[in-house]
Amino acid sequence: MLDDVQFRPLRADEATFLIDALYHAIYIPPGVTAPPKTIVRNPDLAVYIDGFGTHSGDEGILAVHETLPVGAAWSRYIRGYGFVDETIPELSISILPDYRGMGIGTRLLEALLDRLKGSAEQVSLSVNLSNPAYRLYERYGFKVVTVDGDSAIMLRDL
Ligand SMILES: CC(C)(COP(=O)(O)OP(=O)(O)OC[C@H]1O[C@@H](n2cnc3c(N)ncnc32)[C@H](O)[C@@H]1OP(=O)(O)O)[C@@H](O)C(=O)NCCC(=O)NCCS
Repeated sequence: MLDDVQFRPLRADEATFLIDALYHAIYIPPGVTAPPKTIVRNPDLAVYIDGFGTHSGDEGILAVHETLPVGAAWSRYIRGYGFVDETIPELSISILPDYRGMGIGTRLLEALLDRLKGSAEQVSLSVNLSNPAYRLYERYGFKVVTVDGDSAIMLRDL
């Protein structure tokens, strides 16, 4: 399966996929009802994707299975949930549910970190402490800098 997935930079004209990706990046604890898809229009979430590819510093990698986008990792200079300071972009990552647990997220994370090396010194993110993704981030060198309730901001040197 993983051998049939291509990883390549996300083009601005493909950024509509990030609407789906952002929705699927929302952590929903077991037993909790998923929010409606329109939640991604809320300003605190829309900032992650609106006009993606048109702002300086927008970087993204798309995972494509055959011709279907199935996941993305992207970063942007925003005051999002993972904001540390304006010199540090915030990373987001999301795989469509049917494609999780196959190694796609790991490859996307590696590719985006590699791409960011030339342009930023650090990258941040926000994660729920119960999200299995937390282990993935730790494995790739992200360190917790702030904990607020059940979510953490993590930071990694590039
Ligand atoms: C987290 C996520 C990006 C990882 O991508 P993936 O392709 O499923 O991951 P991989 O197969 O490369 O496995 C890497 C790690 O991802 C996590 N993971 C694997 N399957 C997962 C699943 N079905 N759901 C959530 N996390 C999963 C695990 O931590 C795994 O490491 P482990 O096997 O050591 O526990 C992906 O599962 C996803 O989109 N989850 C929902 C959205 C999300 O939580 N995004 C991050 C918000 S901070």
